[in-house]
Amino acid sequence: MKIDVYALPNSVQEKELKERIAVVVDVLRASSTIITALHNGCREVIPLIDIEEAINLSKNYEKGTFLLGGERNAQKIEGFDLSNSPYEYTRDVVEGRTVLITTTNGTRAIRKANEAKEVIIGGFLNAAAVARYIGQKEENVAFICAGTDGKFSLDDILAVGAMIDALQNTGKPLDMDDLGLVCLQMYSIHKQDLKEILKHTYHYKNLVKAGFEADVDYCIQLNLLPTIPVYREGVIRVLNIV
Ligand code: MLT
Repeated sequence: MKIDVYALPNSVQEKELKERIAVVVDVLRASSTIITALHNGCREVIPLIDIEEAINLSKNYEKGTFLLGGERNAQKIEGFDLSNSPYEYTRDVVEGRTVLITTTNGTRAIRKANEAKEVIIGGFLNAAAVARYIGQKEENVAFICAGTDGKFSLDDILAVGAMIDALQNTGKPLDMDDLGLVCLQMYSIHKQDLKEILKHTYHYKNLVKAGFEADVDYCIQLNLLPTIPVYREGVIRVLNIV
């Protein structure tokens, strides 16, 4: 299995994805929030680029059947129901509902992966589940990191490292590109104390400054959830493995 890692969505040529499985990673926090929402029974998540796009689309839904979620500058968007904190996406809030979500980096990265053969959402929370799923396939894999504000973000790299590590543990022979090797090495060095390295990073510091340290602690938990979100035709749902 060939593994390529893209540090930013803009490094990917859409046509390169056609024959590959894309795993989109925005570990702080969009991926982790989407995994959590679907795990808690949310019907579907629709990733949107603009606030306006989300508000316009919400007009097609009946009151009570949908929630508007997301962030700008890490904060809840005015008039929205939920922010981008995974802790808000509890079962009593999201079960049976559609979440229309727009975030600064994560939802853009998901949309960018649109051309891939299959698009799944990964993070620390579901690393083992993602590895098990892609490990049984014969497809090549592209990990697409969302980055932060157009810049490389170490949190995503470490999460990709966790998924590659779990893939290696399945015994699958892997042919990684150089960034894949970096992800695996960084994860192997820091896996015992991810926070120790993350606390020096830009996105972590921003989230902590904004009062979201508990979210970071949540998002960096390894293999907490078995849920794999899959993005098809504009909608993210739970992958049903048959
Ligand atoms: C994003 O998608 O830009 C991030 O998830 C931002 C955040 O941490 O809320």
